[in-house]
Amino acid sequence: MSVGGQSRTLEINGLVIGFSDNWGRTMRLDNKVAIVTGAASGIGRATALAMAREGARVVVADINLEGAVLVTDEIIALGREACAIKADIGQREQVNAMVAKTVEQYQRIDILVNNAAYIAFYWDTHFHEMDEEEWDRHINITFRGTLYCCKAVIPHMIAQRSGRIINVTSDAARLIQPKGQAMYAACKAAIAGISRCLAGELARYGILVNCVAPGTTETPGFLAQPSEIIEKVRQLSLLKKVGEPDDIANLVLFFASEEAKYITGQHWSVDGGASSF
Ligand SMILES: NC(=O)c1ccc[n+]([C@@H]2O[C@H](COP(=O)([O-])OP(=O)(O)OC[C@H]3O[C@@H](n4cnc5c(N)ncnc54)[C@H](O)[C@@H]3O)[C@@H](O)[C@H]2O)c1
Repeated sequence: MSVGGQSRTLEINGLVIGFSDNWGRTMRLDNKVAIVTGAASGIGRATALAMAREGARVVVADINLEGAVLVTDEIIALGREACAIKADIGQREQVNAMVAKTVEQYQRIDILVNNAAYIAFYWDTHFHEMDEEEWDRHINITFRGTLYCCKAVIPHMIAQRSGRIINVTSDAARLIQPKGQAMYAACKAAIAGISRCLAGELARYGILVNCVAPGTTETPGFLAQPSEIIEKVRQLSLLKKVGEPDDIANLVLFFASEEAKYITGQHWSVDGGASSF
């Protein structure tokens, strides 16, 4: 039997049978090049794996290179292509280097998933008590980091006359949040706002921009919260459970796929109905 990454042949008694790893199903992101930030963990990892399973070549970008390499190894074990890049999205030069390396490696960028964010919980701190340095960390990583990534990939997507940008926001962008989450919520709302404007600016180049807003999702980041908070948010969902990373990755994958070719400027929640009240 020969294994060629996405297709195989099997020889039985002189008869050569060819089949794809997906048993004839067309892969939804066949040969697309995708950058996923914050892909070493949680939602980013699930997204990178889901995209790779659908045939994308995935740049697994994260501030945590060791974690990114592990996810890359998982993708390669699936018979797909990926590379790990260390990039802190809050550092413009690192973002530019990430995009330059991607273009050098694959000559194009079809999909950007802005998933990385600054995640910190301060349940005891009112907004007015929070240090301004902490505001800056939210703004510089979550908001500016997303802007740096968009700014760096857009010229390549314009040159290709195609592209998908999917920004991972949060229900926090639209719903009142518990104490301590004001800056996180503000940055996610800012990303949603700029995403709509980018959708308007970039539609003429065939570039679609959408946001995915997770509700509470069971990731290493989320599990860092106190258990009583976890229980409280579980009860907020109509389905009385928190999401799994794959629940979010599935919508990101959809926005990246041909099935979503007529959808742009949208901000959809995946939250078990938590934002329906
Ligand atoms: N898990 C949830 O309940 C939830 C809910 C709403 C929104 N979100 C959003 O989903 C996204 C992913 O969250 P998660 O829960 O999977 O988190 P996570 O902590 O499990 O993973 C985040 C990843 O981002 C990486 N990262 C952190 N700072 C970075 C930086 N400056 N540059 C590059 N990479 C960086 C981390 O190393 C980690 O691998 C975030 O944007 C988060 O705001 C999560």
